[in-house]
Amino acid sequence: MLGKKNARPLPMPLPPDRRRFRQRLLTWYGRHGRDLPWRKTDDPYHILVSEIMLQQTQVDRVLPKYAEWLDKYPSMEVLAEAPEQDVTKTWYPLGYNIRPKRLQSIARESVAKYGGRLPSDEATLLSFKGIGAYTAGAIRSFAFRERAAILDTNVARVLFRVFVAKGDPKSHAMTRHLWKISETVMPQRQVFDFNQALMDFGAMICVARNPKCLVCPMAKSCRAFPFTPGHK
Ligand code: ADE
Repeated sequence: MLGKKNARPLPMPLPPDRRRFRQRLLTWYGRHGRDLPWRKTDDPYHILVSEIMLQQTQVDRVLPKYAEWLDKYPSMEVLAEAPEQDVTKTWYPLGYNIRPKRLQSIARESVAKYGGRLPSDEATLLSFKGIGAYTAGAIRSFAFRERAAILDTNVARVLFRVFVAKGDPKSHAMTRHLWKISETVMPQRQVFDFNQALMDFGAMICVARNPKCLVCPMAKSCRAFPFTPGHK
C-alpha cells in the first residue's frame, strides 16, 4: 500500500512559469543560438537528412557530412536511385550504419508513394523506419512549421531539471510526463525557433555534466538549481 498510491503527481508548469520559460529561452537564443545550415532551409528532405545525422552524431561532425551528402544526393529522387554501397560509403565515418540504409528507404518510399515529398502528418512520418517521435516532431516543426513538440535526450534533461527535478529522469512515466511538458511550454507561434532554442540550450548551457548554471537565464526559477551535481 505504500509507494505509488500515495505518490505525489509530478509537477506541471503553470501558465506564468511557461511564459517566463518561453521568454527567457527565446531571448537567450536570439543572443547565443547557433547559426546552422539546416536552420536556413525549409526543404523537408534537407531537414530529414540533418535530423537523421544528428540522431547519434554531434553537430560539429555532422556539418561537413551534411554538405557533402546534399552535394552528392541533392533530392529524394537522386538518393532513391543511388547504389546502396555508395550510400553507405558516403555516410562514413558517421557510424551507426543502419541510418543511411533507413534514409535511403525513406527516400524510396517517398518517391514511390508521395511523389518524392515527405508527408507532414505525424502518423505517416512515424510509419517510416528511422523516424521516431522525436524526429517526427523535429520534421513537423522545422520543415512544415507545424506546432509539434520535440523531446530528445538534451531536451528531456532541460525540462526535467527546470520543471521537475525529482524522481527517475529515465523512467517511461517520466518520459511521458516530459513530453506533456514539452507540449505545454511550446508557444503558439515561433515553434521553429523555440524547438531549435531548446536544442541549443541543452547543448550549450544545460549540459549533462557541469551545466553552466552561473550564466543560465533559468537558474532563478530552476527546480534543480543549485542542486545539480557539478554545476559551475
Ligand atoms: N540535434 C538534433 N536536431 C538538431 C538541430 N536541429 N540543431 C542542433 N542540434 C540538433
